[in-house]
Amino acid sequence: MEEMLLESDKSVVYADIDDIPGSPVRVVEGAIPENLNGVLLRNGPGKATAGGKPLHMFDRYGYVAALRLHNGQASFRGAHVRGGAYVAENGGQVWKQRRIFTNRDGWWSNFLHLDLANTVNHDVYYWGGYAVATADPGQFLLDAETLETKGPCPLNGLLKNRQSNLGPMPQADTAANRLVAYTVTPGGLGDDTLRFVEVDPEWRVKVSREFKLPGKAIFVHDLCFTPNWYLTTEFGRLNLGGALMGTQPLVESLQYSAQQPSRLFLASRTGPERLAVIPFPGEHQSFHFLNAFERADEVVVDMVVYENRVDFRAFYPDEIPHLPPGPLGGPWIERRVINPQTLSCQVTRFPEVAGELPEINPAKRGNSYRYAWINSRMKYPGFNDHCAFAWFNGASKLDWDTRQARRWQAPPRTFTSMPVFAPRGGGAEDDGWLLIWIIQAEQKKSGVVILDAAAPDKGPVARLELDVLLPAASHAHFAPLNG
Ligand SMILES: [Fe+2]
Repeated sequence: MEEMLLESDKSVVYADIDDIPGSPVRVVEGAIPENLNGVLLRNGPGKATAGGKPLHMFDRYGYVAALRLHNGQASFRGAHVRGGAYVAENGGQVWKQRRIFTNRDGWWSNFLHLDLANTVNHDVYYWGGYAVATADPGQFLLDAETLETKGPCPLNGLLKNRQSNLGPMPQADTAANRLVAYTVTPGGLGDDTLRFVEVDPEWRVKVSREFKLPGKAIFVHDLCFTPNWYLTTEFGRLNLGGALMGTQPLVESLQYSAQQPSRLFLASRTGPERLAVIPFPGEHQSFHFLNAFERADEVVVDMVVYENRVDFRAFYPDEIPHLPPGPLGGPWIERRVINPQTLSCQVTRFPEVAGELPEINPAKRGNSYRYAWINSRMKYPGFNDHCAFAWFNGASKLDWDTRQARRWQAPPRTFTSMPVFAPRGGGAEDDGWLLIWIIQAEQKKSGVVILDAAAPDKGPVARLELDVLLPAASHAHFAPLNG
């Protein structure tokens, strides 16, 4: 049966939001598993305006929300991160700083201003006893229970200057009990420097390795690792002309062409420092990883891939003019089998799924694995914006052994976040739950769906409803907490 969706439903993902110190959670279907204990965290856009003017979704102040699950009960709260632009602009009362997608009024006020506002709105992870809200210019520690902002993350101390960036998606190596992160430091007249670090739960740097990137103004985003390699991938290269002049938002100054393909970087984690560079096919772009692992002399890396330039124009508010969309394909899931010595690369595509915001069992990071879960674009007639993941409406479990997917499609007029894996404690890789934030356009309410991670196609174990309408989430994370 074709599901119906109204054109007006699109705007529900842009909902404005304020701090919520507490709100009821109703179980409207099934029951919360008694042994599912922890906090489901999400980060993403908060307040929709600065100084009374609308912001691109990705430029809004970071808003972290938490669903706390304990012995079959649930509670909810949400708060803006008190750091970066939110503090500098007095909670959105004024607009002082330039952003990635949205310039201040008038090119002159953006002229030569490349130090961007830190909106702290991209990801949230749990490390060292804190929830940590992230963005490229730096991260902030939050109390995982109250969401109170406790101060800057110690990783910010690794930044060499105001043009340096911190990778917004650090990943835990659970076997080593280390957090893997990176910085990128502009080289002035020379090439940029990529530095990978590993920190322990007290944020002490245990490993630090530096690599020269092949060029300048290279934007990278996600990371993954294997026992012997760190990996990251090029989102684009900044053409400083338009950005420095203040005539374009920074994101529109990213160069992208078939003559200058994006590149995958493999940096040695052991042995001599070496960077292997693998170009993508022309006109393909990628920035999120599923996982990577080693197989004999090869590195296998699984990624979300777009044909042509990824297009975030869906997330501009109507008040800000933007360019017409171009032809696109994806986001697809692809596997690359790379020999880091010969730089050979074989690519295969996971059949018949489209999606973003991938998740795996965290214990499998860097190791051979079988399952992944993605926020999926299911079929809605006439509603096929390839890059607008905020309107995706399902979850798929990918099985790399069989190359088949098990799918759950959300109810009509419902949008889904990334699926978050919460382990159940058994030995199987897929023994756990999938937690998904949902937006119900018809009811103008948000909620959370709990699925069996092994069999999402069986439908919800539980569905929870909140009294509030949250905007679309960026990334989400599950922190298993006791007590
Ligand atoms: Fe991301």
